[in-house]
Amino acid sequence: MKAIVATDQAAGTAGMSLAERPEPQPAINDVIVEVHASGFVPTELTWPSTWTDRAGRERTPSIPGHELAGVVTALGYGTTGLSVGQRVFGLTDWYRDGTLAQYVAVEARNLAPLPGDVDFTVGASLPISGLTAWQGLFQHGRLQAGQSVLVHGVAGAVGSIAAQLAREFGAYVIGTGRSADRQKALDFGANEFVDLGNDTLEDVGGVDIVFDVIGGDVQKRSATLVRPGGTLVTVVGPAEGRPTDGLAVDFVVESDRAQLNEIVQRVRDGRLRANISNIATLDEAVAAFNPIERRTGKTIIRIRQ
Ligand SMILES: NC(=O)c1ccc[n+]([C@@H]2O[C@H](COP(=O)([O-])OP(=O)(O)OC[C@H]3O[C@@H](n4cnc5c(N)ncnc54)[C@H](OP(=O)(O)O)[C@@H]3O)[C@@H](O)[C@H]2O)c1
Repeated sequence: MKAIVATDQAAGTAGMSLAERPEPQPAINDVIVEVHASGFVPTELTWPSTWTDRAGRERTPSIPGHELAGVVTALGYGTTGLSVGQRVFGLTDWYRDGTLAQYVAVEARNLAPLPGDVDFTVGASLPISGLTAWQGLFQHGRLQAGQSVLVHGVAGAVGSIAAQLAREFGAYVIGTGRSADRQKALDFGANEFVDLGNDTLEDVGGVDIVFDVIGGDVQKRSATLVRPGGTLVTVVGPAEGRPTDGLAVDFVVESDRAQLNEIVQRVRDGRLRANISNIATLDEAVAAFNPIERRTGKTIIRIRQ
């Protein structure tokens, strides 16, 4: 089968290439999915799981991409809950070959049914950013209606979904980003926007939750804005900034079928809009992941036309 492979960590996204790889075999509780569309987070190439298996053994050439939408073509021994021919979407194991390929082996529990009226490209854009936003707001941030949330990087993949979910939930959303992102931030549901390059973050005042996707100095300054009892939630590694009278939580997104169902239902009924900036083919994927101009939103690879 055709797949994108990564062999050289130092080369980053520019070092990925299109290659011929063996089709995956289903392990116990797996399904094989014919991938119709795949998402990719460029920082995957800095994660140890892209380069080694759980025992620490090198596993290159590895196939990146860990979110997908496609059709089940085979079931492994003991697999229940999904059928051959079923449309599915979801998040695959970080330590196994991923979704920038014509086929992928994935545990059935990591997938949810993809309704027939949701396009594969939209389905593939939702698992990582949608589940990260959901888990960050509701599980780790324990968001309550009426609270205020500072969503960093609100024009990006995670931030745009977090802003929409928080607004729907009855929160007041302050989005941040670059100056060019103001209109997009408001379009995705932010009540107000802070241009991190030109505005003063501290003018925001107190917030109940910070949803951080940036880290560093922005995260440390944001920690000082968290009200007593509030939470700084970050997805970019262990928190460096800590609220004086609140929690700091970092987490890695996990697959969750019920949450995937909630997310896709919102897309179907118009409460949630995907944030896709570019759709490319597998042949164009490496170039698409090395854009020459700035893009906000997801690049989705349409593997089967
Ligand atoms: N822990 C987890 O489970 C998890 C899950 C998903 C994502 N992540 C991580 O979360 C981060 C965001 O992911 P994403 O998919 O949402 O990325 P994304 O689509 O690139 O969004 C990030 C947004 O933040 C903006 N931004 C970054 N630094 C900024 C700064 N200093 N000032 C103003 N704006 C800034 C970016 O603008 P520019 O493009 O111009 O920089 C972009 O619009 C990544 O590091 C990713 O690895 C972690």
